[in-house]
Amino acid sequence: MRVIRADRIRATVEVPSDKSISHRALIFNAIADGPATIERILDSEDVRATARCLEALGVPIDWPQDSPVARVTGQGLHGLFESDEILDCANSGTTMRLLMGLLAGHPLLSVLTGDESLRQRPMARVIGPLRQMGAHIHARTGDTLAPVVIKGGGLTGTEYQSPVASAQVKSALLLAGLYADGKTAVTEPATSRDHTERMLSAMGAPLTAGGTTVTVEPATSPLHALSLRVPGDISSAAPWLVLAACHPDAELVLEGVNVNETRTGLLDILTAMGASIELMEERMSGGEPVADILVRSSELRSTSVSGGVVPRAIDELPLVALLGCFAEGETVVRDAAELRVKESDRVEAVVEVLGRMGARITAHPDGFTVHGPAKLHGARIDGRGDHRIGMLGAIAGSLASGETRVENDAVGVSYPDFWHDLAQAAEGGMISA
Ligand code: S3P
Repeated sequence: MRVIRADRIRATVEVPSDKSISHRALIFNAIADGPATIERILDSEDVRATARCLEALGVPIDWPQDSPVARVTGQGLHGLFESDEILDCANSGTTMRLLMGLLAGHPLLSVLTGDESLRQRPMARVIGPLRQMGAHIHARTGDTLAPVVIKGGGLTGTEYQSPVASAQVKSALLLAGLYADGKTAVTEPATSRDHTERMLSAMGAPLTAGGTTVTVEPATSPLHALSLRVPGDISSAAPWLVLAACHPDAELVLEGVNVNETRTGLLDILTAMGASIELMEERMSGGEPVADILVRSSELRSTSVSGGVVPRAIDELPLVALLGCFAEGETVVRDAAELRVKESDRVEAVVEVLGRMGARITAHPDGFTVHGPAKLHGARIDGRGDHRIGMLGAIAGSLASGETRVENDAVGVSYPDFWHDLAQAAEGGMISA
């Protein structure tokens, strides 16, 4: 797509539904005790991949094309069937890792694969602890990469200290723990998103959370089916928050955004940088705190991001590099080596994309430093088939002089209407194929 700088940013955007919650609503309801209706489910490539895998495991899902409502008929804790197909998780790490945990609990033979990007992402972080619990798992390249073959069942609970703060790892082990003999406790170096804990608890799972440890007991009674309305995704609100904060003439309202504090690291970073942000109409929806967010043009100052805020902003950190281009001084992101194993190596990708556009940015093994302010100019950008990098390129292009071309943007993974919403918000700019 071609992008030309916008003169003015004005819009009210109903951001797409939360991807993490949409996956979980499908997976957890698949093993619940009856039908559930998921309203405002995210209709994106990643979530469709989860639905297809569950259908292949015998779960009836009624989710017509372009429909925001999915009906899942839960099969109970032990009602999945062995799939006679390979389960294709496409580009979705959440699909693969959560299903690995779930399938480790079932005495079935399952094979999971994904696209070229997913087949290069680390799976040992889930395979190791699931094996420790007794699952039989084999995978490519020293049992580290998908495709993954699982023969589950006969698990024993474990106490696992995860070396990474990862909600995917935590969720996989908690799902397996429901099927294990004895309790399973997962401790993380810092708290990652807690949607699994919230949703499984609401469904009656025997789960307790304290500090950075979550414990699950074996499920002795069925999970209650949970109908819910999925709130907006703060990771999809993030491009707008950053665009408005950096643009000199901007005012945006983002409606119905999930502001669960395990996800609001970007709001803390924006506040530390002096951005004008206001949370309005704070309320609860689908067991999660939700708010409308008003964001305006802002004078930004640089900041340092490290430690506990990193997992709370992990998918938004590429956009923090763009904020750094509009802030006076050095903006530094550290403790974020996880960026290198996302849908692309996001440290390398951010440095390349913004570097081509005139940013002064250097990579570190676990993050980057941006020297601001910088005058960005249009360039030809490769989104590397990574939705977060595609959207970064588009937002940077809406702020830069000249024309930006974004290739391989992959926005359909989490935000199929992204280009449409950008064209609406970016007055005087140009978005064209
Ligand atoms: C997700 C967790 C995060 C995040 C991903 C979605 C989830 O990954 O980056 O986009 O839904 O649990 P990690 O758990 O690997 O950090």
